Parts: sequence; structure tokens; C-alpha cells
Amino acid sequence: MSSLYIGVMSGTSLDGVDAVAVDFSDGIQALGHVALPMPEPLKQGLLQLNQAGHNELHLAALAANDLVEVYTAAVQALLAQLDVPAASIAAIGAHGQTVRHQPQWQDRVGYTWQLNNPSLLAERTGIQVVADFRSRDIAAGGQGAPLVPAFHQQVFSQPGQTVAVLNLGGMANISILQGAQVFGFDCGPGNVLLDTWCHAHTGQAFDKEGAWAATGKVSQALLTQLLSEPFFSLMPPKSTGRDLFHAQWLNHHVQAFPGLATADVQATLAALTAQTCANEVLRHAPQARQLLVCGGGAYNLHLMHLLGQCLPGMAVSSTDSRGLPPMQVEAAAFAWLARQTVLHLPGNLPAVTGAKGLRVLGGIYPA
Ligand SMILES: Nc1ncnc2c1ncn2[C@@H]1O[C@H](COP(=O)(O)OP(=O)(O)OP(=O)(O)O)[C@@H](O)[C@H]1O
Ligand SMILES: [Mg+2]
Repeated sequence: MSSLYIGVMSGTSLDGVDAVAVDFSDGIQALGHVALPMPEPLKQGLLQLNQAGHNELHLAALAANDLVEVYTAAVQALLAQLDVPAASIAAIGAHGQTVRHQPQWQDRVGYTWQLNNPSLLAERTGIQVVADFRSRDIAAGGQGAPLVPAFHQQVFSQPGQTVAVLNLGGMANISILQGAQVFGFDCGPGNVLLDTWCHAHTGQAFDKEGAWAATGKVSQALLTQLLSEPFFSLMPPKSTGRDLFHAQWLNHHVQAFPGLATADVQATLAALTAQTCANEVLRHAPQARQLLVCGGGAYNLHLMHLLGQCLPGMAVSSTDSRGLPPMQVEAAAFAWLARQTVLHLPGNLPAVTGAKGLRVLGGIYPA
């Protein structure tokens, strides 16, 4: 069977779709990357579906189909870039678009909901698709997230050293790699609050390089209030999403400080993001000397600078320094997870998600 897999990821930032081709024939080698922007009407539709609304089952099904058309375009562009036929790909790992993440619901088994239509993706591409990676872990009592630490370990661990990996996507998650031992969890917002505030007050989808935040002054009072969010002090396993860190959460807190300039709020949100991530690294891996950052947040120079300030004993760099560009890491992880499933190997790490045991994740949709 081919050792070429494609991972397709669209994360909580809703910025777009990343497709990465990975060759597993000799280690793990990323061969190509295509990033397509999320069409604006689809982005708005998906954003709305993060909350309960009228006729949402119908709207969700159609949004999933529209999303798969973008996934298809990304896969086709990747095949063209690599100049390989669909038949050379063993499988596509398609994450889908998370619109709800409630791994526990009160005292009941919860759920996580990634909009997707793997049947349509298999039909459109002629390639076997693996999807719905998170549900089995939740069925086994886990958080269903994060699933990327096992892949981070494969690519970034270094013998005799503790390496921390921070993915700054919409949400932020940390992997702590100590040789064969891996630990990880979601630590809270990555870019989501920064993007939300920036879009509301400048019209831009995100604060490029963090330049706007860098002009503002941190409000210690607002920062203290935001830091009182109970999620930040929870011990792992823990995972989160837009279910908690949404515009209303942010506006509710900011309303208590009516005099604050909008740039000062942005500066405070950057400080919150850096501090909450750094606090978790210090709490769980004080011995780490290296923090590798992936996800789009690695391009936010201001945020990277703040992380460096919060972690004076650590070398903070993007995963580029280890040969895998920040925007390719998560998609490559879903190529790896798809391969695990196809080979009937487990994809979750119980020490990370809290599941009762190792599980083969996802469902397979034949070509
Ligand atoms: N040049 C840049 N400057 C500042 N921020 C950037 C830049 N480029 C990307 N970003 C941020 O990165 C975000 C996208 O990151 P990414 O694609 O990793 O997140 P995601 O899609 O939510 O992924 P996931 O949730 O799966 O980790 C953008 O929304 C933006 O906030
Ligand atoms: Mg993205």
C-alpha cells in the first residue's frame, strides 16, 4: 500500500483549509502544502453554527457539503502540485469543522461535532477518507482532544531533553515531550480572542504580526479578571473551544471596563494568551528549555515576543526551526492519524485525553 497520506485541517480560527501531503516511507516527510481561504459566506455560516440556531440541522448539513468542496479543491491542488494521481494516495485524513465540543455533558457522555461529509470527499476525490477522529476517544471517556501530541512526539521529541510544543491555532494546545513520554492538553484561547476583537474593531480578520496589540497598553485590571476564568486553573485532561471562549465571553468581561481603548484591550488579550500558555508550560514542564510554536500564532511576532518574556529560561522558536512550517503541523498530524487508523493502530493517548485506553480512531470511507 502507498505510504503517501494527505491531512486536511480547518481549525477553529475559520481562516481556511490546510492540506498537507506526507510521505511515511522513511520517517515522516511533508511533501507539499496547499492553503485555501475559507469563503466568507461559509465562514459566517460556520461561525453561526457554533451556537444554537433556527433550522440548524439543515444548515449544518449544507455547510458540511460546502466545506467539503473546499477540502476537495485543496486536495486537487495538492495532487497537481505534487504531480501525482489520486490513486497514489493511501488515504485523506479529514478533520472536519468543529462547531460544538462538549466531551462531557453534566454527568452524561458528551459529544464533539465536526461538520464534514467524508462520503462526498471520497466521491469527489476518488481517495479513501478517514474522518470523525475524536468521537471514539470521547466514547472511551476521554476529551477527544487534543489528538496532535502523539504526532508532535513523532516529529519533535529529542532524546534526553524535555521539549514543549505549543500550537497557537484558534485554541491553544500544549504537548510536553520527554523521550517516549508525552503529555498534553488544551490550555485555552490561541488566536480566537485576538481575532474576534481585531475583526470587531478594525474589520481585519486578524492582527497581522500582532502590530496593533503592540501599540496598546495592557490593562492589569482586565487581565486579572480574564485570568479568573476557572478553565485556566483546571488540571488536565482538559479541552476547550468556541463553546467557552466566544465573543459574548469577551464582551461580558470588557464591558466592566468602559474607558479602555480598543488597542489596550487587544494588548491585554495578547498578554492573556501568552501568560496562560506560559503558565501551563511552567506548571507542567519547568525543566523544558525549548518551546516550539506552531499554528498561525507563530507568525504573531508580538505574541512570540511576549512568550519569550514569560519564559526567560526557554528558547522560543517556530517549528520552522525543526523543518516543519507552523501552518503545516496540524494538517500533517491528521495525515498521521489517518495512517494510524488505516493500519488499525491507536491514535489517541490516554495520558493526554483521559480515555480509558488506546483506541483506533475514526471511520473509514472507502474510495
Ligand atoms: N501574519 C500573522 N500575524 C498574526 N497572526 C497570524 C498571522 N498569520 C496567521 N495568524 C493567526 O493564525 C490564525 C490561523 O491559525 P491556524 O490556521 O493555525 O488556526 P486554526 O485554523 O484555528 O487551527 P487549529 O485550531 O486546528 O489549531 C489566524 O486566524 C490568525 O489569528
Ligand atoms: Mg487554520
